[in-house]
Amino acid sequence: MEPIRKIGVITGGGDCSGLNAVINGLTKTAINTYGLEVIGYRRGYSGLLRDDYQVLDLDAVSGIMHEGGTILKTSNKDNLFHYPYAKDEEGGFLYKDVSDQALENMRRNQVDALIVIGGDGTLTSARDFNRKGIPVIGVPKTIDNDLPETDVTFGYNTSLSTITDALDKIHTTAYSHDRIMVVEVMGRNTGWLAIEGGIAGGADVILIPEIPYDLDRIVEKVKERDELGKQFAIVVVSEGAKEKDGDVTVREIVKDSADTVRLGGVGDVLTRNLQARIENHEVRYTNLSYLQRGGIASQFDRVIGMRFGVAAVDLLMRGERGRMVRCRGREISDVALETVIGDGKTGETSRGGRKFVDAQGQLVRAAKAIGISFGD
Ligand code: F6P
Repeated sequence: MEPIRKIGVITGGGDCSGLNAVINGLTKTAINTYGLEVIGYRRGYSGLLRDDYQVLDLDAVSGIMHEGGTILKTSNKDNLFHYPYAKDEEGGFLYKDVSDQALENMRRNQVDALIVIGGDGTLTSARDFNRKGIPVIGVPKTIDNDLPETDVTFGYNTSLSTITDALDKIHTTAYSHDRIMVVEVMGRNTGWLAIEGGIAGGADVILIPEIPYDLDRIVEKVKERDELGKQFAIVVVSEGAKEKDGDVTVREIVKDSADTVRLGGVGDVLTRNLQARIENHEVRYTNLSYLQRGGIASQFDRVIGMRFGVAAVDLLMRGERGRMVRCRGREISDVALETVIGDGKTGETSRGGRKFVDAQGQLVRAAKAIGISFGD
C-alpha cells in the first residue's frame, strides 16, 4: 500500500452549515497528528477536473468552524464519470467520462488520497474514484438527513433550528390574523426536516412524502381547531409531499446535474387548494427555501462535523479505503461507501438507498399522540 503524504479534499452537492467544521477537523488532524499536506479542490469535482485548488494549512482553517457554507465552494453538477461536454442538436447534453483527467491532475499534484464531503450524488463519485485506485473516504453531508447507514448527517441540525425559529415567528401572524399558514420546507423525497422541524415549531399539520395526504383531512383539522377556539393553523409541508394518488411538484429540471429533478412549489399548490375549500380563514404560503441551508452552524453540527473530519483522516491513515464515516448513537464509526449508495455501475447517475421516515414509527406516532395531523 502506497504511503499517504498528501490529501485532497472536496465539498460537493448543496452547501450546508458544518462543512467548514469538517474541513477544520480533518486539516488540523492531518497536519498536527500525521504531518500530512492538505489541499482543497474548489467547487466540488469541477476543481479536480480544472486542477483548481488551494492549500489548506493551519492558517487557512483557523476560525472557520462556525461559518456556514464552505470555504472551498461547491457544486451539485459535475459527475466526472458522466460529464456533459457539449450540447446536441436538440439542446440536450452529450456526455463523456473525464475521470482520468482528474486522476492525472491528482497524480501531478502528488495527491495520495481524497476525502469527499457530500450527499448521495457526491458519494457515488467518491465510490467510483475509489474503484479507480485512489483511496477515498466519504463524509456524509445533507440538510435532508436522507443518507442511510448513519443516524445523522451534519447540516440537518442547523436547518432544523432555522425551521423551528421560522415557525415560532410565523405563529405570530397566524394567531393575530386567524390565518392558516402553509410553510414549505426542503428534504427532497424524505420528510425528516418537515417532521422534526414541524414538531419543534408547533405545527398542527405536517405533510411528508412518506404519508400521502388527503385535502379533506387537513380541512377537518382546521375545523376541529376552530371548534376548540383556536382559529389559526400552521401547516408544514415537505417539498416532496404529494396528495393521495397525486405526484410530486417539480420546480425545475437541471439537465446537467446527476440528480436532475429539483422539487419545490407544493406549498403554493396546497395553499390554493386549501383556500378554495376554506372560507373563514385566509390561507398564506411561505417557502423557507435556501434559508434552510445557510447561517452559522449549530453547536451539534460543529461538533459532529469536526469529529467526522478527524475520523476520516484516522481511517485513511489506518489503511482503510472506500469507507464513509458515520454516526451511530453518539459514536463515530464507518461503513463501506457501497453499502450506503449501492454497488451499481461506475458513473451511473441513479441514486442509491435512502433513509425514509417510518410512517408507522415512533416519531410519527408521538406526533399523532400530541394531536398533529399528517393529512392521512
Ligand atoms: O439536498 C439538499 C437540498 O437543499 C434539497 O433539500 C433541495 O431539494 C435541493 O438541495 C435544492 O437544490 P438546488 O440547490 O439545486 O436548488
